[in-house]
Amino acid sequence: MMMVKVVVTVMVCVLELVNANKCVIDSSVPDQEKKTQYEYLKTLDPIIGKRSELKLSAKDTYTFVVCDDADPAFKNVSFIWNLGDTDSLLGFNNRTLVTKARNSLMLTFLGAKGLEGKYKKCNGTAGASHILFLCDHQQHKVQLEILEDFHGSLTCSMMFVVRHSCVCSLSNQGLSGGAIFFIILLVIFGSYFTFGFFYLRLVKGAKGVEQIPNREFWFKIGNMLADGCGAVFRCDRYCGARGTGSAPSSYGGYSPIDERLAQDLQDTDRDSSLLNP
Ligand SMILES: *[C@@H]1O[C@H](CO)[C@@H](O)[C@H](O)[C@H]1NC(C)=O
Ligand SMILES: *[C@@H]1O[C@H](CO)[C@@H](O)[C@H](O)[C@H]1NC(C)=O
Ligand SMILES: *[C@@H]1O[C@H](CO)[C@@H](O)[C@H](O)[C@H]1NC(C)=O
Repeated sequence: MMMVKVVVTVMVCVLELVNANKCVIDSSVPDQEKKTQYEYLKTLDPIIGKRSELKLSAKDTYTFVVCDDADPAFKNVSFIWNLGDTDSLLGFNNRTLVTKARNSLMLTFLGAKGLEGKYKKCNGTAGASHILFLCDHQQHKVQLEILEDFHGSLTCSMMFVVRHSCVCSLSNQGLSGGAIFFIILLVIFGSYFTFGFFYLRLVKGAKGVEQIPNREFWFKIGNMLADGCGAVFRCDRYCGARGTGSAPSSYGGYSPIDERLAQDLQDTDRDSSLLNP
């Protein structure tokens, strides 16, 4: 009963975790592409709702919450820049774009509010903010870093970086079916020999070679393999006349190096005897 309760609780937690992802791909994205982007977004599931604050000064703070609301006062906003008394809403999570590379994932929030009127480079348009997630095996906390702030940027946008281990799952996309099959086979064989070995040794009191389980069978297989290899790969039958034990010829082909040398020496002897009448 207890067990069931625990399992149900865990399942509910997992479901809640998945559901809490408030990032919605922007409606300008075509449906097929949307599906792909939601697939990429799953990379961030382990850190949904994690909060990070970047305090540059007492009156200059960025607050980012991964795909959840950063402040109850602003619905659907994951990223807020507080500068003095004003809040710029940098990241509307209901207008997200997701792009991916081998070791990184980028969230782009469109439709930033609070910049357009204030800054010339925005020229009246809404800005965008980018948050680049990079793989870092050692990093298990969400920590916002600034890469390109608003003043350094040429366009009405900003770029931030979060290094985190969860992004590393992008580069090791699991094992292939073949590899898994091979590993399972290896484990089965390994446990078969280990258990067999201990069974024969401890229960049957076997010693030495006797400890190998089903040894007759395995040695028979060994013999059969050896015979097979002999039949297929041995030179005796397929290498022609040279392979059958006749004297190695001095021309072309393979002959062991010192046999060749002996042959050469003989030839030299013959030549010199021809030269001396
Ligand atoms: C996103 O959420 C905001 C509320 O914060 C709302 O005003 C806006 O219409 C929403 N946009 C979309 C595309 O749903
Ligand atoms: C938040 O965004 C969703 C669409 O993604 C929208 O339906 C909802 O109305 C928004 N919330 C508010 C308070 O505007
Ligand atoms: C600003 O926007 C106006 C139209 O909205 C456009 O004519 C003008 O070229 C833009 N300026 C810059 C620098 O992009």
